[in-house]
Amino acid sequence: MAKRIQFSRNGGPEVLELVDFEPAEPQADEVRVKNHAIGLNFIDIYFRTGLYPTPSLPSGLGTDGAGVVDAVGKNVTHLEPGDRVAYAQGPLGAYAELHTLPAEKVVKLPKGVEFETAAGGMLKGLTAQYLLRQTYPLQGGETILFHAAAGGVGSIACQWAKALGVKLIGTVSTREKAEKAKQNGAWAVINYSEEDVVERVRKLTDGEMCDVVYDGVGKDTWETSLDCLKPRSLLVSFGNASGSVEGIDLAILNQKGSLFVTRPSLNGYADTRERLERMSQDLFEVLESGKVKIDIGQRYSLGEAGKAQEALANRRTTGSTILIP
Ligand SMILES: NC(=O)c1ccc[n+]([C@@H]2O[C@H](COP(=O)([O-])OP(=O)(O)OC[C@H]3O[C@@H](n4cnc5c(N)ncnc54)[C@H](OP(=O)(O)O)[C@@H]3O)[C@@H](O)[C@H]2O)c1
Repeated sequence: MAKRIQFSRNGGPEVLELVDFEPAEPQADEVRVKNHAIGLNFIDIYFRTGLYPTPSLPSGLGTDGAGVVDAVGKNVTHLEPGDRVAYAQGPLGAYAELHTLPAEKVVKLPKGVEFETAAGGMLKGLTAQYLLRQTYPLQGGETILFHAAAGGVGSIACQWAKALGVKLIGTVSTREKAEKAKQNGAWAVINYSEEDVVERVRKLTDGEMCDVVYDGVGKDTWETSLDCLKPRSLLVSFGNASGSVEGIDLAILNQKGSLFVTRPSLNGYADTRERLERMSQDLFEVLESGKVKIDIGQRYSLGEAGKAQEALANRRTTGSTILIP
């Protein structure tokens, strides 16, 4: 028997229960991981509330963790018991002491990357990897706007953008968060609860506006994001922290300057073993070089998952949040 977080109905943080469960034996192509640290992500809240449907209920939760391989299925060749590993995709159930998942979703950790760094940085770091290196392959010299710059993905993006020679303008909701984003290498920071974002961006860029806007906030920032772009440039809408963007009239893209919009996901980019390996390699390189550090802003025990999610949903966290089993 082992412990895991489970929910039997959608709802608030109170639906998350710490229960005993029988961890599954790995099937032929699976591995079982003994988690040392677990990553908390906004998407976990979407599954809990029902914004994203779960395959069935009761359900486990979470897809992000790091630990040691505990057992492997008979077809698995790239991993063996005792390997230090991390993962960011696959079936829900990472909020647990032991998690069984397809081996193709699991990568070996280099010696230089600690379990807590990996759990705090795997899903969010792979997301930053595809956003900055693939969705729009930044070359250096661009000016970009990144919303929620003191958050999990945002903190990594600030550092990575700086390492690439990109001017990142970050938005945040408090002075403390503005300080964090600056420390992480943001070129400029806008407090969107006090300032007019479009006007500040206009001033900061001498009227040129941005080459790319990265928007994980969604509903509340959609229009502002479009207004911060240069003609014919790209809005990357990658999340719904404030609610989903709905009911778009495509003509708005024409009116605001023949703009492009994409709505990407990690699963759409790390969709093959080869791509996951390449993206992980790129992430581990920036972590090992010290150019990007994973800022673990909050640590909670596994049983405090509800409390941790409440803090994330209510904008009380900075950097990454992890659960310790
Ligand atoms: N598509 C993908 O592949 C992918 C992968 C990972 C994450 N994401 C998305 O990226 C975003 C960031 O994820 P994360 O896990 O790193 O979270 P996070 O940025 O640590 O937390 C969300 C932040 O969003 C901001 N926010 C603005 N309005 C909000 C509202 N009404 N309610 C709550 N937060 C609000 C808050 O920062 P301020 O207080 O500074 O406003 C908050 O701290 C999320 O939307 C997530 O779904 C997408």
